[in-house]
Amino acid sequence: MWHGPREEISQKEYDTNPCIIVMHERKVILYIAMSLDGYIAGPSGEIEFLSSMDKAGEDYGYANFLKEIDTIIIGRKTFDKLKEMGYQYPHTDKKVYIITHTTKPDIGTFEYYTGNLTTLISKIKNLPGKHIYCDGGADLATALLQENLIDEILISIIPMVLGEGIRLFKSGIPSQRLKLLETKYFEKGLVRLHYCKE
Ligand SMILES: NC(=O)c1ccc[n+]([C@@H]2O[C@H](COP(=O)([O-])OP(=O)(O)OC[C@H]3O[C@@H](n4cnc5c(N)ncnc54)[C@H](OP(=O)(O)O)[C@@H]3O)[C@@H](O)[C@H]2O)c1
Repeated sequence: MWHGPREEISQKEYDTNPCIIVMHERKVILYIAMSLDGYIAGPSGEIEFLSSMDKAGEDYGYANFLKEIDTIIIGRKTFDKLKEMGYQYPHTDKKVYIITHTTKPDIGTFEYYTGNLTTLISKIKNLPGKHIYCDGGADLATALLQENLIDEILISIIPMVLGEGIRLFKSGIPSQRLKLLETKYFEKGLVRLHYCKE
């Protein structure tokens, strides 16, 4: 099971690797950044505000997080946005499910998935492996939260107010109490909050 910093592992171990895992329990982890006022992107999906946190040698724990992941689920719009921005989706070493309503052929280890999300998560969790990274966006996160399928949230608060855009938490998500595992402050003003289900 998950071990948070107040349980058996030391704070130092946790700082190096916030997602220490035991192989038999796989978790769905939403790892995402939002503005202080709750937006993950501008009105047309712009994510340039995230670049304000760029700092040489600082990845905000992302590389360590990725070591504990072997499966990614991503909303079709987030996947397409990266292509539109001229990037190839990088995680070719992982099984990636692009969640959509429209069937399309797979691209290597990237599979377009049109089925039921609960079925997908339970299929993945019933196989041995590492954790499952939800790479956004808000539509997908909302769909997962509506079905109570997210086990942990690692949310990076960007010290900016965007004023408008794509909200992370949409209406319709059932109320749920979370347990705070850690807050971590970074020099550029980003604060990372780590929650799990109570
Ligand atoms: N700040 C961050 O850390 C961060 C992280 C991720 C993304 N983003 C940004 O967020 C924006 C996209 O977010 P978004 O909320 O608009 O879209 P999204 O969640 O990335 O994708 C939405 C699409 O996913 C599919 N989908 C979602 N739930 C589904 C379900 N239950 N069943 C079947 N298909 C489902 C649908 O695809 P179809 O339309 O194909 O049916 C839907 O239109 C982009 O601009 C991206 O760059 C920011």
